[in-house]
Amino acid sequence: MYEQVSHSLLNDILIELEHDIKEENLQHFYIRLGANFYAIYSLFHQLYGHRDDFRQQLHALVKTLTYSYIARSQQLRKLDVAREKDHNWFLSQKWVGYALYCKEFAGDLNGLQKKLYYLQDLGINMLHVMPILDCPKGKSDGGYAVRDFRKINPDMGNLEDLDSLIKNLKKRGMLLALDVVVNHTSNEHEWAEKARKGEQKYQDYYHVFDDREIPDMYEETMPEIFPENSPGNFTWDEEMGKWVMTVFNDFQWDLNYRNPAVFIEMVDIILFWANHGADIIRLDAVAFLWKKIGSNCQNEREAHLILQLMKDCCQVTAPGVLFIAEAIVAPVEVIKYFGEDAINAKECEIAYNATLMALLWEAVATKRATLLNLGIKNIPDKLERATWLNYIRCHDDIGLGFDDNDIRLAGYEPKLHRNFLVDYFTGNHQLSSAKGVVFGINKKTGDARIAGSLASLAGLESALENSDMDAIQTSIKTIVLLHSMILAFGGIPLIYYGDAVGTLNDISYLDDEHKKTDSRWVHRPRVNWEQAELRNIPGSVENQIFGALKKMIAVRKEITAFADHNNRELLEVGNPHLFVFSRFDTININSRVLVICNFDVNTQALDIEELRKKGFLQYTSVQDIYTGDSISLANQHLDIPALGFYWLRA
Ligand code: GLC
Repeated sequence: MYEQVSHSLLNDILIELEHDIKEENLQHFYIRLGANFYAIYSLFHQLYGHRDDFRQQLHALVKTLTYSYIARSQQLRKLDVAREKDHNWFLSQKWVGYALYCKEFAGDLNGLQKKLYYLQDLGINMLHVMPILDCPKGKSDGGYAVRDFRKINPDMGNLEDLDSLIKNLKKRGMLLALDVVVNHTSNEHEWAEKARKGEQKYQDYYHVFDDREIPDMYEETMPEIFPENSPGNFTWDEEMGKWVMTVFNDFQWDLNYRNPAVFIEMVDIILFWANHGADIIRLDAVAFLWKKIGSNCQNEREAHLILQLMKDCCQVTAPGVLFIAEAIVAPVEVIKYFGEDAINAKECEIAYNATLMALLWEAVATKRATLLNLGIKNIPDKLERATWLNYIRCHDDIGLGFDDNDIRLAGYEPKLHRNFLVDYFTGNHQLSSAKGVVFGINKKTGDARIAGSLASLAGLESALENSDMDAIQTSIKTIVLLHSMILAFGGIPLIYYGDAVGTLNDISYLDDEHKKTDSRWVHRPRVNWEQAELRNIPGSVENQIFGALKKMIAVRKEITAFADHNNRELLEVGNPHLFVFSRFDTININSRVLVICNFDVNTQALDIEELRKKGFLQYTSVQDIYTGDSISLANQHLDIPALGFYWLRA
């Protein structure tokens, strides 16, 4: 949009910058800057317009965008233009993601290159390598406490190694997602060190207080994120002689986005990684970006303005790059990270679907899809040009953030049901063979979360211990069933490293003094490549899981109805154990796939007549596109095997 005030300001800024700009080939940049500038100006003004230095700060921001564009390679600029043309490219069903810790998966970045064949064998083409940046040895929160945002952790390699990995990935047609931890830094970051030494400029980068007066006010309404390891939200820094806000661990200092200099620094860092060739930037802990006394300091309106501004800036310099929002919050809140009051995504294009993840585990425990059905209905339709990251396990815990009302509608009492789930997955329930570990117990509220590897939570660990063949099969079926959901649901499936070969819990973290109090490490194992090789031995557990996933991924990639365009319809089928939905191709809506999942350990019957009334299964037989089998619909009921699933197509 053209608007006089902002554009005349932009003219002035560009004239000032012109002296330094030697490059002439800035046509694309200027077009995008012109197109986005009013939005950038307005958002920046909303956030920082009251400051005397507003103009200087805006100047600094435009300079950052310009210099980052100048540094962007021709190859990446070409990719930007190609992606602008094919702007829905990432909604295609052909993308399948995988998240890993570089060190635990492959030792270092060079080692990772040598394992790409394994990922490609499975069908992976989007790789999320969790934080690889420089961080202190012990107090690192798995890399989420960054000491230097522009330096690779020397244990994993250097920038050249990353460049070489990226080149390799590009040749293989694989995307790379990298983290930018936007909410906080390590307490050993240069900014924190300078703040500690008393430099006001850098104390203003954080939330720093002389005494407890303001911190106490914040504490009235702020929850605790790591209540066991890091109770409270403020830490006393002895050397600085002040309190600093530390919402996560006490060594992770929250950045102060009320300071525009912080915003500009972080945009510069995002663009630095975009220019290194990251296709996707995962923005960590975005719900926490804005702190306000009297609130829980999550999902504040300003946090969204900051993300919109980051997106607008990134679109000017590196429009081909996508953002993932890591916001593990309620469905009505998470949907806003695509952008409020918009048609197209205008904040992050991708968001973690933590709701689906938690609901899937609930269905595993109860063997029913009742809460799953209710919970999914509560996820509002996503915007266009936005998609979910669907996952079963990730490097974090499983939080039980279901809607209390839904829990009641499903026939349970919320508190008791959450206790049941924690007990179920931590092996404290007689009907359960799961072997998880409790995480984040909050003694004040009674809340708890769950850690554990997919296989151990699905009962494989205890089944193997007991050499119980039936139980082994049950756990394999559970693992495959859960993947059938994330591969068919709509969105980018994100497979967690180790899960494709049934990796069990790893309790070696208990021997590490920096890890032993953080039970999430139980599911962050060092990959045992000898075990992974067993995937090639027919009949092995690894082979059964890997084979099933590989096949599902290959089938998914061929089915355009599995692309993500709000083309899913949930179907009520009257049997509480079944979760049924249809996916249709938006171009040819008659091309449908009916997905049926049975969460029960017994065979369950699907009433075909009921579905026929709704216009489905009008044939005498259909094909299960996963197995290739033809399925007869001659009877009134279709039997769905225990923990089985169908992907049915006419
Ligand atoms: C995100 C990460 C988590 C980390 C936290 C604090 O939630 O996924 O692992 O502990 O941010 O950085």
